[in-house]
Amino acid sequence: MVERANFGSKLGVILATAGSAVGLGNVWRFPYMAGENGGAVFIMIYINCVVVLGIPCMISEFIVGRHGQSNTARAYQKLSGGTPWTLIGYMGVLTGFLITGYYAVVSGWCLQYVWASLIGHLQGDPAYFKTYFTELSTDPVKPVLWTVIILGVTYLIIEHGVRNGIERASKMLMPTLFILLLIIVGASCILPNADKGIEFLFKPDWSKLTAEVFLGALGQSFYSLSIAMGCLCTYASYFSRTTNLTRSASQIALIDCLVAILAGLMIFPAAFSVGVNPDSGPSLIFITLPNVFQQAFSSLPVVGYCISLLFFILLSLAALTSLMSLHEVSTAFIHEEMRMSRKKAALVVTISTSVIGAFCSLSMGAVDGLTIFGKSLFDWFDFITGQIFLPIVGFLTCIFIGWFVPHHIVRGEFTNNGDLRSRRYIRLFYIFIFLVKYICPLAILVIFLHQFGLLK
Ligand code: PHE
Repeated sequence: MVERANFGSKLGVILATAGSAVGLGNVWRFPYMAGENGGAVFIMIYINCVVVLGIPCMISEFIVGRHGQSNTARAYQKLSGGTPWTLIGYMGVLTGFLITGYYAVVSGWCLQYVWASLIGHLQGDPAYFKTYFTELSTDPVKPVLWTVIILGVTYLIIEHGVRNGIERASKMLMPTLFILLLIIVGASCILPNADKGIEFLFKPDWSKLTAEVFLGALGQSFYSLSIAMGCLCTYASYFSRTTNLTRSASQIALIDCLVAILAGLMIFPAAFSVGVNPDSGPSLIFITLPNVFQQAFSSLPVVGYCISLLFFILLSLAALTSLMSLHEVSTAFIHEEMRMSRKKAALVVTISTSVIGAFCSLSMGAVDGLTIFGKSLFDWFDFITGQIFLPIVGFLTCIFIGWFVPHHIVRGEFTNNGDLRSRRYIRLFYIFIFLVKYICPLAILVIFLHQFGLLK
């Protein structure tokens, strides 16, 4: 039997999995969610959601993946003994697959913005940036091309396998991402009036706390940690028997939070410095920010040019490492279930997700008729994967681990078969089981019902 691939080092485990978690969610979604939901209050609630709910859900997926030592669908099947719980695994793979194409479209926009910054096209008045983005997203050719390019780059990494592809790329990309982040944070925080942005991020105004803020933070924490898309489970199947699941989950969550907060520190001080409100929603990154950078560094246009370029490179790297993990979910599935070579499986995934991506992109306005009930395919993918599949897979995984899988198996994985036997770990194990059994499913259920207006 061929030995199963695995990550070669602890650092590889952390950087690859943190690469999955750190993505557009941190640099794009987190800042605008924080901006719309009161800044510091949102961040505090967010951190609590990560610790109390996100980390236990991550550990649950790690347990399934490492125990199964196979792709997500097979891993759930092994642990459930072939009962209908197996379906959660298939749903996870399907969610990962569908989201790959849609995520690639946004990643493609980032690449296009790198190119536009490089050739000096990202310069003009505020109206210009708006037109630029609208024209790009509704163009029939360019965004499709960039989507295929970023999926092609992902393919080139994935086809090299787990250690030589994913792990090696993560070890290069993640430190680069950190360095870029620190450079831009530095530049943003020395601008005049930057302290107002810093205050907005760190000084909580409790009057802003509403149920919306709480639910937004909860949803964002799951999305940002890549929960319920098969990614964590697939990567955990490449962990070694000695990988400490609790410690790894905590370190990955810490990196993820740190990057999100640094992304805030990159954006808000610059935005406040030029008097722009940071609550412009999803267009924050593509429309507001290029303008903010341009204005903030208007006395030194070269610096503005460099910061804008570095920012979009950073965004593209973050997207790429997440895309790798999404791609790997389907690649591992096809490779193992359909007995195809890894390279062929990766190619099948690249081609099929490029087609999905192309349709999503064209549905943004380039081609009429790619809408269902008035929503573009792009929005449908976002809705079905993020608002329906994600909560369902997350909820069922908690119920599965908390109530169905025999506790000695869960405990065996949690404690590395008894190697982690200090009192602290035993206590942590009981806290983990309590959270996964009761608190996490309840919280997920609440977000799920709330988003359909069933809970006011
Ligand atoms: N966690 C990623 C982000 O923050 C998004 C993602 C979700 C990636 C699910 C993989 C799987 O952007």
